[in-house]
Amino acid sequence: MVDVSHASLNYGDLNDARSGRVPVGAVLGSDATGVVVRAAADGTGPAEGTRVVALTSGAFAERVAIDVGALAGIPDGLDPARAVALPVAGVAALRSLRAAGLGPGKRVLITGASGGVGRFAVQLAARAGAHVIASVGSPARGRGLAEAGADEVLTGLEGLDRPVDVVIDSVGGPQLVAAWNLLAPGGSVQSVGWTSGEPAVFPPYATVGPAKSLTSFVIEGDAGADLAELAGLAARGALAVEVGWQGSWERFAEAAEALRGRRVPGKAVLRVTSERRPLDRGNG
Ligand SMILES: NC(=O)c1ccc[n+]([C@@H]2O[C@H](COP(=O)([O-])OP(=O)(O)OC[C@H]3O[C@@H](n4cnc5c(N)ncnc54)[C@H](OP(=O)(O)O)[C@@H]3O)[C@@H](O)[C@H]2O)c1
Repeated sequence: MVDVSHASLNYGDLNDARSGRVPVGAVLGSDATGVVVRAAADGTGPAEGTRVVALTSGAFAERVAIDVGALAGIPDGLDPARAVALPVAGVAALRSLRAAGLGPGKRVLITGASGGVGRFAVQLAARAGAHVIASVGSPARGRGLAEAGADEVLTGLEGLDRPVDVVIDSVGGPQLVAAWNLLAPGGSVQSVGWTSGEPAVFPPYATVGPAKSLTSFVIEGDAGADLAELAGLAARGALAVEVGWQGSWERFAEAAEALRGRRVPGKAVLRVTSERRPLDRGNG
């Protein structure tokens, strides 16, 4: 059981909220940091008082019960207000790059590079020795990406004419089709998201030719081990966490509007500020 101090807002949380599939009264949210107030009864997992970061359902809560496999300890030197940016965005970036078969010298295109997933993907791909091409919606949205490790920062796919080996795509629509056309034989597109909301129309024969792949992606299974890796990198200063919006969770609507309005570089972080209830009265 964790007392939540911070939650972060993901594009996917907003998709969930608007999906019509979530029952009234359900608690949304996926990224939480806080302090363990009751350890797992079977003795596994962190002890009471441990600071943790988790990828869990129901993260928009003051207190949440979390599977021990879904969390990791927050190392000294890492602020929970930054660690909370890691779960969905960081794990999606890490696992999609892993699935694509990243390696030194590969040309990697990251779309939606200004956002949560994108900024982590740029840094992780650069750390792996790839040539990183970051695609953003406007020049202003590209700020900080060269410093994060991007070799090229493009508006859309403007000027990109050499093939790429890997695409981490969170935009979908016509840009996905264009990225597919740029993919080298043997290459891999990981379809992580679809923020454009537009259909992708492949011209006839676009998918006929030397083998290359377009793979759907979703985070599955426990994220604890990957969270520990990401938190370790962030604590050592090897992974920058850009928080572009932060405030009390009472300002949730403002955060959501900024995220959907493409005004948040990196992540939006909500501070959980309400009064705590005593544990014996709380029910999670
Ligand atoms: N499959 C999974 O497991 C998984 C995990 C995490 C995220 N996702 C998905 O991945 C996507 C990105 O998530 P995120 O948390 O990184 O979101 P985010 O922080 O909001 O970033 C998304 C980026 O997409 C771009 N964008 C937004 N609206 C756009 C539009 N209409 N046309 C073109 N580009 C647009 C924006 O870049 P510019 O402002 O530079 O254009 C923005 O920075 C979402 O679709 C999310 O649902 C999936």
